[in-house]
Amino acid sequence: MTAEGSSQIDNVMQESRLFPPTPEFVAKAKINSADAYQTLYDASIQDTEAFWGKLAEEELHWFRPFETVYEKTENGVGWFVEGQTNISYNCLDAQIEAGRGDKVAFIWEGEPGDHRQLTYRELHREVCRMANGLKKLGIEQGDRVSIYMPMTPELPVAMLACARIGAIHSVIFGGFSAEAIAERNNDAEAKLIITADGGWRRGKVLPLKNIVDQALSKSPSIESCLVLRRTENDIQMQAGRDVWMHDLLDEVDEDCPATPLDAETPLFILYTSGSTGKPKGIKHTTAGYSLYTKMSFKWVFDYQEDDIYWCTADCGWITGHSYMVYGPLANGATVLLYEGAPNHPAEDRFWDIVERHKVTILYTAPTAIRAFIKWGDEHVEKHDLSTLRLLGTVGEGINPEAWIWYHEKIGAERCPIVDTWWQTETGGIMMSPLPGAIPTKPGSCTKPLPGIIPTIVDEEGNPVDTNHGGMLCISKPWPGMLRGIWGDEARHQEQYWSKVPGMYLTGDNARLDNDGYYWIMGRIDDVINVSGHRLSTIEVESALVSHPKVAEAAAVGRPDEIKGQAIAVFVTAKDAEAGDELRQELKLHVRKEIGALAVPDDLRFTAALPKTRSGKIMRRLLRDIAAGKEATGDTTTLEDFSVLAQLRQDDE
Ligand code: WT7
Repeated sequence: MTAEGSSQIDNVMQESRLFPPTPEFVAKAKINSADAYQTLYDASIQDTEAFWGKLAEEELHWFRPFETVYEKTENGVGWFVEGQTNISYNCLDAQIEAGRGDKVAFIWEGEPGDHRQLTYRELHREVCRMANGLKKLGIEQGDRVSIYMPMTPELPVAMLACARIGAIHSVIFGGFSAEAIAERNNDAEAKLIITADGGWRRGKVLPLKNIVDQALSKSPSIESCLVLRRTENDIQMQAGRDVWMHDLLDEVDEDCPATPLDAETPLFILYTSGSTGKPKGIKHTTAGYSLYTKMSFKWVFDYQEDDIYWCTADCGWITGHSYMVYGPLANGATVLLYEGAPNHPAEDRFWDIVERHKVTILYTAPTAIRAFIKWGDEHVEKHDLSTLRLLGTVGEGINPEAWIWYHEKIGAERCPIVDTWWQTETGGIMMSPLPGAIPTKPGSCTKPLPGIIPTIVDEEGNPVDTNHGGMLCISKPWPGMLRGIWGDEARHQEQYWSKVPGMYLTGDNARLDNDGYYWIMGRIDDVINVSGHRLSTIEVESALVSHPKVAEAAAVGRPDEIKGQAIAVFVTAKDAEAGDELRQELKLHVRKEIGALAVPDDLRFTAALPKTRSGKIMRRLLRDIAAGKEATGDTTTLEDFSVLAQLRQDDE
């Protein structure tokens, strides 16, 4: 434990379980020992530029070779300077050239149970047609295109079509409001929005086009609106602006050669919510992002040619960009896409999908895993999950108990779990076990990927000792790094590159343990300071979740005159036993797991926690509630507003 007043973060979590990959997994793995990982990693940091340069030559198709691997200029950074490539070419044409024309690229399942499959050749054709359609609508290189669609194959097709002609896509998650869409259209000054009449969600039609209509009354830059027919609900088509996709694509050419693009040509903008203020348009570019998503996919998922890979994210998030579309396709993978909810028509939908499609790799989020635990094991046990060989998580820290459940119930103790730490800004996975090489520890994202150098520093920017928490930084540039915030270079510099000179500031806290494993401790802003001890939210939450009656927990600090901050926790119990008795039991449980220091001062039961639409707990809102304040700041990303109202009511 560190001294009072230290700017470091105390580490109170004890997790010593270690899970090596099985011999069967190791036997087939591409990187199959700790030594093999270390050799690769050492080479990558000895001469990082040579390392990335060689991979870029070997792994990407170049219309024109690059001359410089990396350079920093007045206008930012350049990776693979002078080179020309195209990510859509790498994902499609290069795969067909490599003999994968008849291999299935996407297996798609709609929520109502409809199916479609697209081979690489078919996907190539669809992308070319869409790209020609975009051109017909007047879209040119550099134009911004908003995409607000259900998870149908046309969504990745639209992304790849933009990439093919150098238009910049901005995918807006299908759960966002008209207000949020308009804000994003305006910030990007998008010319076109691609949408659908509707999408299926829990058996109901989400009226996407109606929502877009509202947004377009406040989006002056939008000239046309391209509409996919999906749910056949009644919609208004505004003459001169709205175009049916099937009409547009009816008479276009089936070939559209990929445009050779300079390496730093912007590929997409993806908006993430800042903790306050307006959303940030994170900008990624062509060549560096192509290489980083391709390599990270290959390494982390130990990708093998016959894998059926399923990532349960939505294309509206970075995970959907990097690991449903660009990373997997650049490796010639078969990717499963599912349109709907995990509990429709029943709570076993995911396991039904795994069984029917013989999924071998499953990549999902801790929030989903906690929901499955709450729904009960019977939904899992109905299905044959024996095709699975590898599991992954992303988006938040995974509480060790949820990890163990995933390992035992889904992975049958046979599948390694890759806990992947990264951010919209990083473009791809930064830390994760390479599954055939690194034994896992529940709750740790383990080690950095090749070429990535994490550094943990205190408030003054000095490196902290092993086993002390501090701010996680990345001390060398990597090809997938963000290239800016759209239209706000000052914010980009200020937020990521100024606080710790020469390093990228992630905004997360982390700790390195004695075995060289990294543990993410949550967002810097979420640290709870109790009597000079700085505690991480994830540790308190994990202690609570390790109690058999707890499904989910969120910990926040609230002002306290004596201690500085007191700990307030919000708990979702598994059964309806929430009450004083369980409250007492949970406080004792935290005392036993962590110590008296971390015992919550307030413990409230709640039916649900406020989450972002991507499933992250919004602790910022809970802090306000715990302090008895109105929740302030941006709530546009909140998934379910009734949760906030309910929490406030409980307060009264
Ligand atoms: C933030 C980034 C990464 C794609 C989806 C989310 C948290 C993400 C982990 C993990 C602990 C994690 C971090 C990070 N986070 N993965 N494996 N362990 N925390 O992207 O919305 O940009 O969020 O999510 O706090 O900074 P994002």
